[in-house]
Amino acid sequence: MSELTASAAWQALLDERQQLDGFSLTDAFADNRNRATQFSVEAAGLLLDYSKHLIRKATIDKLLALTEFSQLRQAIDALLAGELVNNTEQRAALHYLLRAQSADAVPTELQPLYAEVTEVKARMRATAEKVLNGQLRGYTGKPFTDIVHIGIGGSDLGPAMVYQALTPYHQAGIRCHFVANICANDITEVLSDLTADTTLFILASKSFTTLETLQNAKTARAWLLHKLLDEEAIGTHFYAVSSKPELAKAWGIKVENVFPFRDWVGGRYSVWSAIGLSLCIGLGYDNFNAFLSGAAAMDQHFAEADFSENLPVIMALLGIWYTNFWQRQAHVVVPYDHRLRRLPAYMQQLEMESNGKSATRDNRPIDYDTCPDLWGEAGSNSQHSFFQQLHQGTEFTPVDFLAVLKSPHGLQEHQDWLFANCLAQSRALMLGQTEADPAFSQHKFMPGNRPSTTLVMSELTPASLGAVMALYEHKTYTQSVIWQVNAFDQWGVELGKKISKELHAAIVGNTAHDDFDGSTQQLLQRYQQQR
Ligand code: F6P
Repeated sequence: MSELTASAAWQALLDERQQLDGFSLTDAFADNRNRATQFSVEAAGLLLDYSKHLIRKATIDKLLALTEFSQLRQAIDALLAGELVNNTEQRAALHYLLRAQSADAVPTELQPLYAEVTEVKARMRATAEKVLNGQLRGYTGKPFTDIVHIGIGGSDLGPAMVYQALTPYHQAGIRCHFVANICANDITEVLSDLTADTTLFILASKSFTTLETLQNAKTARAWLLHKLLDEEAIGTHFYAVSSKPELAKAWGIKVENVFPFRDWVGGRYSVWSAIGLSLCIGLGYDNFNAFLSGAAAMDQHFAEADFSENLPVIMALLGIWYTNFWQRQAHVVVPYDHRLRRLPAYMQQLEMESNGKSATRDNRPIDYDTCPDLWGEAGSNSQHSFFQQLHQGTEFTPVDFLAVLKSPHGLQEHQDWLFANCLAQSRALMLGQTEADPAFSQHKFMPGNRPSTTLVMSELTPASLGAVMALYEHKTYTQSVIWQVNAFDQWGVELGKKISKELHAAIVGNTAHDDFDGSTQQLLQRYQQQR
């Protein structure tokens, strides 16, 4: 048994779980008219209603006691002070610095780094303005009309999701496209309707060694040369953002078109950095900075609010409650806004690549559950796909509903139905249903008492989106502290990359490999036969 699971705080929660056998959400609301208010909190423009959870005040108190045991306050201070919280790579994790809106929000010893990121942000702004006003043009003298952002994982998911979510803020005359997959259908689809002399490529890669990004960059380069013929065009049509600027320059990027960031920016925490250059252009600097400022507002709340009123901490503790005391190994995110349909994919990397681990920070095996499977889909679509299972499946899955009160489409009838459906799903999960007709009693039985959070924003703006993303970042960090894992490394992705190189060599060399397992051998042969 680990120190954590042997702790009094953990044991108290095991006891609390027993005491909540038979707990009824509907009874809890009937017994306490203030329950919704009691379990709701607002900050940074967001309302968190967590009253439809399987909790009572004692539960929250016991969860908060766990933050004491886990020394969460000290861990947050360490994060914000730039300590090497990414211990296995000996790095800090200072993504909050990228969005700080003034030096006042930054400790003295981090001022030099803040000055550095401010300088890069100024370069991003200048470049964005020059691309948008036509001062920066393509090789044949035409203004750029299309940005192709080439990156994957944290160098893609954030920028692609934010650009899609903030459609009303897209700058006129420029479109951003995102290419990530090594599958060539991704890049060929994007390039199929672009013209070379008005297309600007941004190579986004923290390491500048990622297979998919370099392969796509190579194909993009060949496409451009085929169209424009002159090698000189590469320098005009390719920019790069990376923590390895020397590798970008070696690839052929002009020094003035390389936008660096430091290795203390984690990949899945990097949208706020130069990785967001395509956003800075596609949305315009003011909207990009509003996005940063929304996140900065959540940073301040996370740093200063009492944990009992702290949105990221509360969401983190609710996740721990279900993962470790109800053995629920899944978590669903359902944004009730079409523009946020890629948000679950972004959150999957953020949470599962941060906390999907089974070793503690100090290299010990873990004997309790950590990050659950995170998945989801926009509402109301999800009601017509997986909500059947959420209502009548054999186990419950906690749900985060994200609701946007107002939309710029102006179709109030749609908006009314959307919001009614969002609330209806969380209420139905709680109420359940019994069927009077014995012929259908089991078929139509819904247990109810199924928990959900509703996170409400007035409008989907750059600032509210920034606040939501920072909220989930800090939730993720808080859970990593309690689970005692390092949220900022990702050793688990290395083996697959290594084996793919062995298999690629077998494919291109058309060689057999008796040392491969039988399945891999037969599948390789099948591929090689048709190649
Ligand atoms: O999935 C592994 C990973 O390293 C992610 O952590 C990262 O966001 C992604 O690959 C892309 O890495 P890079 O930005 O270095 O190309």
